[in-house]
Amino acid sequence: MMRISAHMQKTLNDQVRREFGASYLYLSMAAYFAEKNLNGFARWMRMQAMEEAKHAMKIFDFVEDRGGRVTLEGIDRPPPDFPTPVAAFEHARDHEAHVSAGIHQLYEAAATEKDWATQAMLQWFITEQVEEEKTSSQIVDTLKMIGDNASGLYMFDQELGRRGGAE
Ligand SMILES: [Fe+2]
Ligand SMILES: [Fe+2]
Repeated sequence: MMRISAHMQKTLNDQVRREFGASYLYLSMAAYFAEKNLNGFARWMRMQAMEEAKHAMKIFDFVEDRGGRVTLEGIDRPPPDFPTPVAAFEHARDHEAHVSAGIHQLYEAAATEKDWATQAMLQWFITEQVEEEKTSSQIVDTLKMIGDNASGLYMFDQELGRRGGAE
């Protein structure tokens, strides 16, 4: 198999940073929700953070498998607080859209270079992002519907807290 190009190595390393950045952001949201005693949301966010770290590692492993070198860059400090639960999930939804844009740029770069192996690896991420964007925007819609109904918020917190593990 063709060794990864210097340019693909750099862009994939950027994506490793973005996935760990997402992980860090979700962990910050987990801490925010735990403080508010919204423990179901906090659990959901923790699981999401672990999932993002796994995404980062998928790319990390791929770079190594292709004879490339992983270099870790600094990740942004996530906001420690959010104005409301819906604002936190809106931030998550917008961040997912940003991550999708990064994946699409990567795919374009891989296509331009005729790097078929990177394109194949990225297929999984393209599909995953559809799911991630759908899930986060559905949660935003539900939270908006609940508004300031405390019992609705309580029930939705319980529901998200039942989230099982995923990739
Ligand atoms: Fe991700
Ligand atoms: Fe994500």
